[in-house]
Amino acid sequence: MKNRKSIVSLFLVGATYCLLSSLVLWVAVPGVEYATAQFVHEGMRDDAGATAAFEAIVPVLRHPRCINCHSQGDFPRQGDDSHRHTMQVRRGPDGEGVNAVECSTCHQGHNLVGLHMPPGAPDWHLPSAAMPMIWEGLTDRQLCELFKDPQRNGHRTPEQIVEHMHTPLVLWGWSPGDGRTPVPIPQHEFFAKVQEWAEKGAACPLGQGPQHPQGFGSYSDHFP
Ligand code: HEC
Ligand code: HEC
Repeated sequence: MKNRKSIVSLFLVGATYCLLSSLVLWVAVPGVEYATAQFVHEGMRDDAGATAAFEAIVPVLRHPRCINCHSQGDFPRQGDDSHRHTMQVRRGPDGEGVNAVECSTCHQGHNLVGLHMPPGAPDWHLPSAAMPMIWEGLTDRQLCELFKDPQRNGHRTPEQIVEHMHTPLVLWGWSPGDGRTPVPIPQHEFFAKVQEWAEKGAACPLGQGPQHPQGFGSYSDHFP
């Protein structure tokens, strides 16, 4: 009798375990995939949760792989120290360079093999001069607010910011080419957190927050 009981409970434990793990998979996997329109309806709003999710993606946003195109000045930057792009490369009105030195002169749709060869991804360019999307020098709160401001973010809703995070120039941060450090958070985790931020109502961190030097390296040495 006793024996039978323990076999039954063993079976129950096993079954529960299977059920739970498939439940976890069922919940977690689609959350990682990019999903179109399951965003904020009232009731899902959770400011603390959204803020925490935003803070979780900040190490990517402040990484040189992103900042080198989202920094101050009318030129891109290079390397982990975010030094000014060599060869007089400049933003130009459309972010595609000026005259004979357009980005596409050197940058292609993919990374070129070898150290110090031009990296690349489809449509490699900077934000335009009219809407330069400069993140550098912003606090976490200000950066988050820029993401939510259609006048400064390319006329996007928070949902469209999530979508934008799946486009080639962003994805490049995870495979930046020979000799370059990729951004520090696994891609699926980053996507999940960005989506969580939007779904929970896209609240921004409070207060001033630190002016992060991380990702700018010896920035001031290079800024004219
Ligand atoms: C080669 C240059 C380049 C790199 C590298 C780059 N971006 Fe951008 N980014 C752009 C351009 C150009 C736009 C404007 C695109 C548009 O509005 O259509 C933009 C716009 C954005 C926007 C929307 C506007 C805003 O500022 O809110 C987000 C979000 C963004 N990028 C995220 C990233 C992230 C995250 C990384 C790093 C993983 C990154 N970008 C790396 C060029 C770049
Ligand atoms: C004359 C060729 C040339 C032109 C034109 C050019 N680049 Fe580059 N770019 C390079 C090379 C080469 C590298 C790699 C340097 C290295 O790894 O040491 C590079 C690196 C970069 C990086 C650094 C990536 C990183 O995170 O380290 C960015 C960003 C960049 N270019 C953006 C641009 C943009 C935007 C334009 C147009 C406005 C442009 N470049 C125009 C040759 C060029």
